[in-house]
Amino acid sequence: MTITLGVLVSGSGSNLQSIMDHIAQGTLDATIAVVIANNPDALGLQRAQKAGIPTQCVMHQEFPKREDFDIQLVHILQDAGVEWVVLAGFMRILTPVFLAPFAGRVVNIHPALLPACPGIEAQAQQVDYGVRLAGCTVHFVDEKMDHGPIIIQAAVPAYADDDSSRLGARILELEHRIYPQALQWIAEGRIQLQDRQVQVQGVARSTSSRWWTNPPLEAPFDQ
Ligand code: GRF
Repeated sequence: MTITLGVLVSGSGSNLQSIMDHIAQGTLDATIAVVIANNPDALGLQRAQKAGIPTQCVMHQEFPKREDFDIQLVHILQDAGVEWVVLAGFMRILTPVFLAPFAGRVVNIHPALLPACPGIEAQAQQVDYGVRLAGCTVHFVDEKMDHGPIIIQAAVPAYADDDSSRLGARILELEHRIYPQALQWIAEGRIQLQDRQVQVQGVARSTSSRWWTNPPLEAPFDQ
């Protein structure tokens, strides 16, 4: 089944680009009805325009209340016939006024292994903390920031000589894989939600390894 997406961006839009590329390649069964930015300089707007996708810029500063901004977004998304809302680097917390009409149909990507390092500058948080496994998470959105049920996570190694941009680039490469994958599962109707547990129907168990450590275990501890 083809799902109709509305994508919200604030910045570069590289995740949007990956989603558009997968749609163009036929690996993601979706159409993007509209891309909305809250920042006129968002490169994501240009990427969408280049692909012939309708765009809108809605500046949150122009609304007296958070809820008023959210209502405007809802109108645009509903008018465009959007079924699923995809947050792709959208730097605003959405209120229940936004979430209610799209209940259970808003997803986000976060550049850390939630619940570790929620909030802004997650890449720097991971570097500063000295984590050995960093990563990214695609999750449903609820009223709390970076909190809703988790659909997929990917781990990447973090090294002592990483800075946030080097680690961020390693994470972003995986973001561009797991977001389209999660959306394709949604398009296939394979995602079921029970409380916080997300089931992906028909998906294999992780087989690449029984475990994964960073640094790698050495003999005899690797047996
Ligand atoms: C990504 O790291 C995403 O996880 C976070 O914001 C960043 C957006 O990057 N929510 P881009 O605009 O998709 O390039």
